[in-house]
Amino acid sequence: MCGIVGYIGHREAYPLIINGLKRLEYRGYDSAGIALYDGSNIQLAKTKGKVVDLEEKADKEITKKGNLGIGHTRWATHGVPNDVNSHPHYSNSGELVIIHNGIIENYASIKQELISRGYVFHSDTDTEVLVNLIEEIKKKQDVKLGKAVQIALNEVVGAYAIAVFDQNKPNEIVVAKLGSPLAIGLGNDEFFIASDASPFIEYTNNAIYLEDEQMAVIRLGREIRIRKIKNDTRIKPFVHELKLNIEQIEKGGYDHFMLKEIYEQPSVIKDTYRGRLLADQGIIKIGGLEEYIPKFVNADRIIIVACGTSWHAGLVAEYTFEDWARIPVEVEYASEFRYRNPVITEKDVVIAISQSGETADTLAAIKLAKEKGAFVYGICNVVGSTISRETHSGTYTHAGPEIGVASTKAFTTQITVLTMIALKLAHVKGTISKSDYMMHLRELDAIPVYVEKALERNGEIKEIASVFKDSPNFLYLGRGYNFPVALEGALKLKEISYIHAEGYPAAEMKHGPIALIDEQMPVVVVAINSNHYEKVVSNIQEIKARKGKIIAVVTQGDTVVRELADFVMEVPKTPETLTPLVTTIPLQLLSYHIAVMLDKNVDQPRNLAKSVTVE
Ligand code: M6R
Repeated sequence: MCGIVGYIGHREAYPLIINGLKRLEYRGYDSAGIALYDGSNIQLAKTKGKVVDLEEKADKEITKKGNLGIGHTRWATHGVPNDVNSHPHYSNSGELVIIHNGIIENYASIKQELISRGYVFHSDTDTEVLVNLIEEIKKKQDVKLGKAVQIALNEVVGAYAIAVFDQNKPNEIVVAKLGSPLAIGLGNDEFFIASDASPFIEYTNNAIYLEDEQMAVIRLGREIRIRKIKNDTRIKPFVHELKLNIEQIEKGGYDHFMLKEIYEQPSVIKDTYRGRLLADQGIIKIGGLEEYIPKFVNADRIIIVACGTSWHAGLVAEYTFEDWARIPVEVEYASEFRYRNPVITEKDVVIAISQSGETADTLAAIKLAKEKGAFVYGICNVVGSTISRETHSGTYTHAGPEIGVASTKAFTTQITVLTMIALKLAHVKGTISKSDYMMHLRELDAIPVYVEKALERNGEIKEIASVFKDSPNFLYLGRGYNFPVALEGALKLKEISYIHAEGYPAAEMKHGPIALIDEQMPVVVVAINSNHYEKVVSNIQEIKARKGKIIAVVTQGDTVVRELADFVMEVPKTPETLTPLVTTIPLQLLSYHIAVMLDKNVDQPRNLAKSVTVE
């Protein structure tokens, strides 16, 4: 969580850092700050609130001049969001200034030690402790900033991406990484620092992604020097060529990133299977999978670890993997898995799913699975992310940057990848008939068209949203493949509209949640043509008998549920196994419109951040 940006070079750093912070606000947005070196002094402004609030403050308080600077947008861990706890933080002498994404777990003991040596602290943050530890080491051991940072980081426990500079040495910035991402953009005698490449994409296509436990001294007029924090070994940097373009990270005429990303789904689902799914030829070929197919087909079981929406995609995969490939699957919250003592053997395959590729709990689950000898396969969206590097192999979803905090296209593209893998394994194992396999390939290839059609119902869904926007509670029900969709629909509504919503398997309703149903309760039921159709119709009858308001997702042409429901949201007919890819669409739109009507911050809902790099 938290976004960091830095610059050193020949340009004015202020506008570049401010724009960069705006692009990183998806990572946290409860406070923001900037520090610039103006040629003789550090100019620092910081405030509770968003980057626009910082701009207002900077207009009044600082010159905004300078070719070196660092900026931060925060998601609070230690200390409430307020001006003082915002980053950057000065050291006691006022000579060093730091930004930090992550957590220093042993900050309390270090703070006590520093207090005993006369240091004074103004904030409640762990970061202010770190900058003063660096200062103490620098002074006591009479070492340069880079060395002091290295010694300090060997004393701390936790996670960090940091950037720090010394006003007495204004031609360099020192950066380091463990657990939180840090990219360095390489320009023409200028360097950019950021949590991801989006802040500098219009200036350079060349970037170095620091690995965990690496640090770099970035000095003007000299090539970048990267070292291992622990043993000081020099590392030859690998320069990535960035594929990102500026259009991908702008709203492109939509009011919100979330809406843009919902509407991108037909094209990004196609990007996900492009070159991997050759429906006419009956071929699925996934780069990172081919050589590991024996591991999957011989696995005792597949364990899927993920969080949030990615976990819901994993639940969908549980159905397809078991149904088609006949491999037992367990889907685990990464945060629970890692803190148990799970039984994992070398015959297990672990699939880690993560849009950001940075989620701390998922990363920890991967490390645990690797320690226990399992083969670990990653499904990530962000190219070069930590999870994509930590796994033995994996597949990218190619959904492009997802900036809205609420995941939309990440979910459907994750399901697309997982569906292809399940089909491939089933085909190799011979557990799916040729005709069923071919039919699914063709239907998967047609999904972008079906999603387009589902999106055409946007106007009707908006009207439904206007009827229910003031309801304080919602229930979401689905069965089989659409149980995870019900969970995902409820999560979407909760996170962006702050309305309480629960997702349940429809049949479970009678074991408790039915007590909640009265004439005030909207119940969103996924009631598409499926093996469970009659059973879901019975569930709808039960809701109706208790006067609940029924909003049903139905297959185009449905008449039975239409008769019973108060409102319907139609989706095109697809095989039941692929329905999550289309039934999700109206639920995304419903939550989006409700949140907009309630005047909520759709792209940056309160208390959330896009990548959760804390445990
Ligand atoms: O980046 P990841 O897929 O690992 O993120 C996992 C969750 O934090 C994420 O899906 C979260 O639940 C989203 N806000 C859901 O919209």
